[in-house]
Amino acid sequence: MSDLTPQPSDLTPQPSDHFTFGLWTVGWQARDPFGDATRPPLDPVESVERLSELGAYGVTFHDDDLIPFGSDDAARTQHIDRFKAALARTGMQVPMMTTNLFSHPIFKDGAFTSNDRQVRRYAIAKVMRNLDLAADLGASIYVMWGGREGAEVDSAKDIRAALDRYKEAVDVLCQYVIDQGYGIRFALEPKPNEPRGDILLPTVGHGLGFIEQLQYPDMVGLNPEVGHEQMSGLNFMHGIAQALWSGKLFHIDLNGQRGIKYDQDLVFGHGDLINAFFLVDLLESAGYDGMRHFDYKPLRTEDMDGVWASAASNMRTYLLLRERAASFRADPKVQEAMERSRIAELRQPTLAPGETYRDLPAVDEVDADAIGEAGYGFVALQQLAIDHLLGAR
Ligand code: GCO
Ligand code: MN
Ligand code: MN
Repeated sequence: MSDLTPQPSDLTPQPSDHFTFGLWTVGWQARDPFGDATRPPLDPVESVERLSELGAYGVTFHDDDLIPFGSDDAARTQHIDRFKAALARTGMQVPMMTTNLFSHPIFKDGAFTSNDRQVRRYAIAKVMRNLDLAADLGASIYVMWGGREGAEVDSAKDIRAALDRYKEAVDVLCQYVIDQGYGIRFALEPKPNEPRGDILLPTVGHGLGFIEQLQYPDMVGLNPEVGHEQMSGLNFMHGIAQALWSGKLFHIDLNGQRGIKYDQDLVFGHGDLINAFFLVDLLESAGYDGMRHFDYKPLRTEDMDGVWASAASNMRTYLLLRERAASFRADPKVQEAMERSRIAELRQPTLAPGETYRDLPAVDEVDADAIGEAGYGFVALQQLAIDHLLGAR
């Protein structure tokens, strides 16, 4: 162990760490396609209080998580008022909100991209109503996860028309935000499948390409989720790096996933721990200043004590990884290994200032065999990362 071993105080989450949780995460009653709920319903007010005690900065939610679908105006006001009182008592914030466009049967063929035009018009109206509440609660990011936007069979949907309608919905909603003077930006959340067999905008890359086609591309970014990229076998850290490079990392859903299978929504770090280590290293070193939002599901095996323990676990894992990443960066041996691996050299432009392609060497002038002989030492560098991750340095 190095003298950089975390002190207990470093592992106590603080509001300044900007940890947030969806009400639907701790509130998940653990109903799955094969079994009934294993936990009782959770009052959003209790979630706010408990998460605040654990050191979180805030909560996020879908409209229906707070205001059950179909509530009348009086019930709606009552739910909102109780919730606002809990926020005021605890100082908890609501930095992000989103819409449930997937539970009700009306959305069975999608929301913004349903073949039924009435559904599309209803979906946009449902988002607009919740944007009013988001602005009222001070949320600055609005997530769009299109879980039902997709199909199971290839005959079911004209995908180019679906993308036209997806764009139309996002453009209309941007216009609404502009007209209302809300300072809200949208974050699209990619996912390859589940609940639809194939979902539109399945990965970070598809999302980035889509944004370029929008009417207000500056107002729209991404909310990538660890498990969703990993469900496609992709490197999440790489995806986040490209989102940052594109100025599109508006928000992030942290959780865990073990390989290409159903969406596990495990606790952060309880899947691919090495990738989680380099993800935290990236977020911290790149100066990402958004929320560290956990979108996980407490295991179905857990009771309510286990739910709160799992919430704490997400934050503890992040803080442990943050400390381990800092010790990795600060280690002179790591710096030496990075030097040997020529990590910094990649930051040097390939052409020198003032050079053009005319200044490049002729192919025959280059001793490719000699250059190709040298190793990069990546394994040694990775082992140092593992040593830090496991607390051996
Ligand atoms: C998932 C998704 C959802 C969304 C959430 C926000 O696990 O499939 O991440 O949890 O993030 O519904 O709209
Ligand atoms: Mn998920
Ligand atoms: Mn998510």
